[in-house]
Amino acid sequence: MPRGALIVLEGLDRSGKSTQVSRLVSRLNAAGHRARLQKFPDRTTPIGGMIDAYLRSASELDDRAVHLLFSANRWECHAAIERDLAQGVTVVVDRYAFSGIAFSAAKGLDFTYCLSPDTGLPLPDATLYLTLSPETASRRGAYGAERYENVDTQTAVRAQFAKVAEEVGRRHGDARWVEVSAEGSVEEVERDIWGVVEDVVRRVGDEPVGRLWE
Ligand code: TMP
Ligand code: MG
Repeated sequence: MPRGALIVLEGLDRSGKSTQVSRLVSRLNAAGHRARLQKFPDRTTPIGGMIDAYLRSASELDDRAVHLLFSANRWECHAAIERDLAQGVTVVVDRYAFSGIAFSAAKGLDFTYCLSPDTGLPLPDATLYLTLSPETASRRGAYGAERYENVDTQTAVRAQFAKVAEEVGRRHGDARWVEVSAEGSVEEVERDIWGVVEDVVRRVGDEPVGRLWE
């Protein structure tokens, strides 16, 4: 049986990621692929609950401790992801280790340190990075109340995502990281994403799943 594809969407807040991941899952299922959504952080687990409290500023945590919790939250889900891929289910992921690195490195943690706890996770077959200019982002209305949802943090995170893109290209090849402009309408962005994903889903069926940063 051909395996499913691991597709990640990354991007800054207000890039329309959540809208696009749910549209992508629907479209894949409508096209006859089995697909499911996985969101990180997954706030439904006990580790996810600690992350959720931190993001809502209901608790304070050391920067390294929270970095490792985000990674642990991915590790507690990796077996289910790999099982689904093996059974032919495509897993569409809303944020992954790349957000983990970009947000923690933006706080000043060492970039190489930030990479290491996610080493060995299933390697996405494609990561689509939704890009948005600061001007468009500000036109989309006020940020929410969560930690990191402010202009200064988002600017620093954007710079770190550029480094992450380079690192993915260097370690795993440029084809694994695809920039998609999120400036257009929901339908335009959806069409651009579909143009990439359709090919990937068809192509990876008999390739083994890679390992992140290995
Ligand atoms: P969300 O808005 O997609 O639920 O993500 C919550 C916040 O957590 C968002 O600002 C990005 C941040 N984040 C990290 O700092 N590290 C991570 O590993 C992940 C997945 C998200
Ligand atoms: Mg958010």
